[in-house]
Amino acid sequence: MNDFNKAIIEFNNYTKNFSFENKDVKMKYKHTFRVVDYAKDIAISENLNEHDQYLAFLCALLHDIARFKQTTEYGTFNDLLSFDHGDMGYEILIKDDYISKFVNEDEDKKIILKAVKNHNKFDIEEGLTKKELFFAKLVRDADKIDIMDMQGNNINDNNFIVEDELFNAVLNENLVLISNKAKSDIRRIFVTLCFIFDINFKRSFEIIREKKIIERKLNALEGYIEIGKMNIIKNKIFDFLKKWY
Ligand SMILES: [Fe+2]
Repeated sequence: MNDFNKAIIEFNNYTKNFSFENKDVKMKYKHTFRVVDYAKDIAISENLNEHDQYLAFLCALLHDIARFKQTTEYGTFNDLLSFDHGDMGYEILIKDDYISKFVNEDEDKKIILKAVKNHNKFDIEEGLTKKELFFAKLVRDADKIDIMDMQGNNINDNNFIVEDELFNAVLNENLVLISNKAKSDIRRIFVTLCFIFDINFKRSFEIIREKKIIERKLNALEGYIEIGKMNIIKNKIFDFLKKWY
């Protein structure tokens, strides 16, 4: 059996502690494996050697390990109402050196720990080595691609207000700061649209293009937002993407 399969068995042993009757547990399990696929895809496109491909795979496999505990104990994925799930993932992995079930070398452990801890932050923390930074960026991309693909593609509620904060995030090419504000469908579209401003790899943009992620979000907004504003948003996004597409 190869290391990849051994790691999946270990991950399954961990997730078995949680009830898959809880649809959110099931959802995060599926999300994890889609992120794994994106991470592998990016790793191959970056010509990583086999060991580093395994590290990219592990960063993705373990990035949301704290989500199972979070939904089970708190019934929410809102970090502000429970715990920071990147930080908690880090804690789960260092407790009793659990991470050594997946890798032995200290350098490898640190790479995974930093990637897990930083995957959900607005910015990656300072002080990472070049290699730690590379894997942190890789898992952030893989995670964002899946979230962009799955969330923020429709408007079903009746809240059509585009707050300045959302509009300005597009204009300034920034992520939207996660807050406890009411989550309207428009907000979700903007949050996930602005993920493109924090994508790091060329392959990630290719996947985003292949899956027509941006087009789907802009189509969803069309008709709900004042035409002038909509044009500014479209121009800004297409202008930004020209650098990558
Ligand atoms: Fe996450």
